[in-house]
Amino acid sequence: MVLKRLELSKFRNFSNLQLDFNEGLNVIIGQNGVGKTNIVEAIHYLSLARSFRTNYDDALIKHGQEEATIKAYLDDEHRTHKIEITIGKDGKRVRHNDIPLTRLSTLAELVNVVVFEPKDVNFFNGPPSLRRNYLDVHLGKTKNLYLNGLSTYENLLRERNAALKKDNIDTIEIDVLQAQMVEASEVVTKGRAEFIRNLNEILPKVLKELDPSLANIKVNYKPFVTLKGDYKTNAEAVFNKAKANDYKYRSTSVGPQREDFITELNGQDVSEYASQGQKRIIALALAISPYFIATNRQKRPIIVLDDALSELDANHQQRLVKFINKFNQTFITTTSFPYQGSELYEVTKNQKVIRRRFV
Ligand SMILES: Nc1ncnc2c1ncn2[C@@H]1O[C@H](COP(=O)(O)OP(=O)(O)O)[C@@H](O)[C@H]1O
Ligand SMILES: [Mg+2]
Repeated sequence: MVLKRLELSKFRNFSNLQLDFNEGLNVIIGQNGVGKTNIVEAIHYLSLARSFRTNYDDALIKHGQEEATIKAYLDDEHRTHKIEITIGKDGKRVRHNDIPLTRLSTLAELVNVVVFEPKDVNFFNGPPSLRRNYLDVHLGKTKNLYLNGLSTYENLLRERNAALKKDNIDTIEIDVLQAQMVEASEVVTKGRAEFIRNLNEILPKVLKELDPSLANIKVNYKPFVTLKGDYKTNAEAVFNKAKANDYKYRSTSVGPQREDFITELNGQDVSEYASQGQKRIIALALAISPYFIATNRQKRPIIVLDDALSELDANHQQRLVKFINKFNQTFITTTSFPYQGSELYEVTKNQKVIRRRFV
């Protein structure tokens, strides 16, 4: 997919903005606070109908206005897709080629945008939920059954936890839910294992290009159950073993909701041993590697690098800018861009965008 045109209306600081984009690299340049991240936030919003900066859609509506609109035209190999999202105070509406979409997952299947932002440097030291979320987002985009399996599992988990909090615990209810959870967890845990296997193929290659000294990298996934042998038997055993504890603490203590992975550089845990600069580059590599995992070319993501250059030294900047050529379409936001051959969109203080070509 290539984003050809974006139209914003009453979105963040923009009253009205129309932008035409190209394949390859699109650089959004401008001073701090002019709205560069707001533009890429809108681009990413197209893929999940969710912001990567806030959980509150209200924040996206221009101050003093009632609703914001994001309109986009995207080309795949066959045709142009028009997507229109209206964000109001009481919810959002999505239309694809003028037809309302009832399920937001349809949007996720249609548009794929991945974002790297500076705070992703916390990826390794932050809570496990950050890393699970990374797996869930990327798997949801590439593996059709994954999101269904995950949401089924999460619903069952909520039910089981609620059942564990009752005054009189119904052991039969718990066992029935547990059996269903065993079943639903299989697609989640096996999907994650497969994704990590692929990631371990790709990640060292990506890092070799971004910084050869970081190429000895490995992601170590710890599934809650061994994946050798019969899945159901093994998973049941894990849940059964934890049951006494679950009854005592009135919550489910094992399962995909507790999984995590560790990233190792030269055999050592990145969260403990890597410098901030190294973490930043490895986090960036993790963010863009899923591009190469998507087997279906149509599913390859649009890559957004929000302010990724400012924290890198000139050498790493150059390597990154060169690497970006491999992607179908990339958006970079930055305050300066001393490299050649790109489409530049300069955002000015009065919310105008001047387009010029850098040659
Ligand atoms: N809902 C909103 N209505 C109006 N302005 C907003 C809204 N949300 C954010 N802004 C403004 O957007 C600007 C920040 O934009 P941002 O994209 O983060 O800038 P940058 O170019 O530094 O990435 C700020 O001036 C902020 O006040
Ligand atoms: Mg910004």
